[in-house]
Amino acid sequence: MTAQAPLTNQRDLFQIPDEICYLNCAYISPLLKSTAEAGKRGMERKLRPWEISPPDFFSTAQQIRATAGSLLGSTANEVAIVPSASYGLAAAARNLPVHKGQNILVLAEQYPSNYYVWESMARKTGAILRSVPRPADGDWTRGILEMLDNDTAIAALPHCHWSDGTLVDLARVRHRLDQTGGALVVDLTQSLGAMVFDLDAIRPDFAVAAAYKWLLGPYATGLLYVDPRHHDGDPLELPIFSRKNAVQFSDISYRNEFEPGACRFDVGEVANFALLPALHDALLQILEWQVPRIQASLAERTAIIATEASALGLEVVDPMRRAPHFLGIRFPNGLPVGLAEHFHEQQVYVSVRGDALRVTPHLYNTEDDQKRFIHVLRSFM
Ligand SMILES: Cc1ncc(COP(=O)(O)O)c(C=O)c1O
Repeated sequence: MTAQAPLTNQRDLFQIPDEICYLNCAYISPLLKSTAEAGKRGMERKLRPWEISPPDFFSTAQQIRATAGSLLGSTANEVAIVPSASYGLAAAARNLPVHKGQNILVLAEQYPSNYYVWESMARKTGAILRSVPRPADGDWTRGILEMLDNDTAIAALPHCHWSDGTLVDLARVRHRLDQTGGALVVDLTQSLGAMVFDLDAIRPDFAVAAAYKWLLGPYATGLLYVDPRHHDGDPLELPIFSRKNAVQFSDISYRNEFEPGACRFDVGEVANFALLPALHDALLQILEWQVPRIQASLAERTAIIATEASALGLEVVDPMRRAPHFLGIRFPNGLPVGLAEHFHEQQVYVSVRGDALRVTPHLYNTEDDQKRFIHVLRSFM
């Protein structure tokens, strides 16, 4: 079997009733049963705090850094643990210089967490926020390369657009930034875990992913990759557990020095005893499935739906221009009124984002789910 061989459906690992057709992973993924169990066990540890010793404040976070590093293609040392994408992006913004007259590049309708921080930074510094317009043919990369110039201080981009999965070729953007000298910040919330990420080719300054979607993690957990050139940077908080020898709880002296690596960017109280074991469980399962195989499996599922939707006269993004795990479906005359409610009534869960019906399956979806989606779509036409 090749590394890219698709996986069969994994619904048994989740607790999804037969009547539920959940095609909405880009909204919020269901937890694996094992992840929920890990979370429960973690929460229950605080029933017996006398069993929690100082090294326990560090061990799960360390395991997560290593597992996340395998997903990102980085070392454990380059990973910080954050509570949200916006937290990681704020840390990135704090450490990247921008001057008056320079510009910061984002996509039109980019997710707000990767927009507000740059809009605010531009306002405060006198920099210009440049928004790449949505391309009619789905080719964001061309628009980015046209608007990126020697004055671009930061390109803050996703791997695929959250509304319809249209792709950004981050390696090409990085290549251009190497020539112009700008920084690259990437939001992988809608791609990490479902799509291969090539760290060597993309080399972001910072990369963040909230874990509650394609990483199948609990809400309020996330990962921040920090390139070693920023490891001496200025964290948002001044977390105590990232200090040298912080594990020596009996030593009450202040420590100015941080442990080396990205851990200085960790959120305070990083040893979240309930959430971290759950996140670790989810990441381990993703590693076991292998991201190239997840990607291949989800590509099959979206391709089947795309073919059927096209046959109904609906517009779907060219497969070369969209992330394999995403499908944005558009109607020639705009989304019909009541479409989302109609799906909801049939217990088929998808999202409306802008003018697109967003369909985002995962390994818990069966062939029957795909048929149900098409059936409901047809019944509305
Ligand atoms: C592209 C993208 N980034 C980030 C997030 C979540 O951001 P945060 O963790 O700041 O709430 C989402 C949620 O939908 C998203 O689609």
